[in-house]
Amino acid sequence: MDDLADLGVIGGSGFYSFLDDPRTVSVDTPFGAPSDDLQIGTVAGRQVAFLARHGQGHRYPPHRINYRANLWALRSVGVRQVLAPCAVGSLRPELTPGTIVVPDQVVDRTSGRPHTVYDEPGPVVHVGFADPYCPRGRAAVLGTPSPQLQVVDRGTLVVINGPRFSSRAESQWHQAAGWAVVGMTGMPEASIARELAMCLTTMCVVTDHDAGVEGEAGVTHAEVMRTFGRSIDALKSWLGEVIGAMPPPQDDATADCSCRRALDGLQLPFA
Ligand code: ADE
Repeated sequence: MDDLADLGVIGGSGFYSFLDDPRTVSVDTPFGAPSDDLQIGTVAGRQVAFLARHGQGHRYPPHRINYRANLWALRSVGVRQVLAPCAVGSLRPELTPGTIVVPDQVVDRTSGRPHTVYDEPGPVVHVGFADPYCPRGRAAVLGTPSPQLQVVDRGTLVVINGPRFSSRAESQWHQAAGWAVVGMTGMPEASIARELAMCLTTMCVVTDHDAGVEGEAGVTHAEVMRTFGRSIDALKSWLGEVIGAMPPPQDDATADCSCRRALDGLQLPFA
């Protein structure tokens, strides 16, 4: 019972410790090991499972993260709501480093990543993904002001495969398409969460202006880590408030979000 949680946080680059008094829980999954052990503890009266997306010491690059195992591991300890902060580059001059964008859309430009849990002959599952992020999670996040961080509602996150950053032309193309921010880890994280009927809300922490944005010289990994590091304390204290505002698990049974209902009517072991 102690090893159950109702809310998950997947921490991004450099975001490791989060809970005050965590228990370490090792979980194995049909897809292998997640990026790290789970840390389970209490925040704002909620049982929260924390997972370092890149593993301790930032071991896994975005294209080698076992997204399937990460989401499955969280689901296996009871998590149905996930908050997934991640570092992104900005595609707009006005979205400056330190800003948090809460995207409402995503474009998947990744390739070669295991991207579905329904990969074997068996039930054929096509989940809806028109609205990739949980409306209930987004409302809780956007309804929680941060004293230090500017939080921006809506925008499209484009996810590139990496691990390299975009060329100037690629970046200008992303900008011309009207997309707001660019990252490397948002997919297939969000779509696998949907395949498991988990609600997921991403908070994109802007660490840089991407190469194509108005005269920017081009981004470096060191710059991303430095800027993300500067936002972490503010992000953690804001997340504590956000967690307190997240919909309680008892609302889940009647929730009408397409995430929580994604597997309704299907006969699956975990539906
Ligand atoms: N993560 C942080 N900054 C990024 C950028 N400019 N492009 C892709 N991923 C990023």
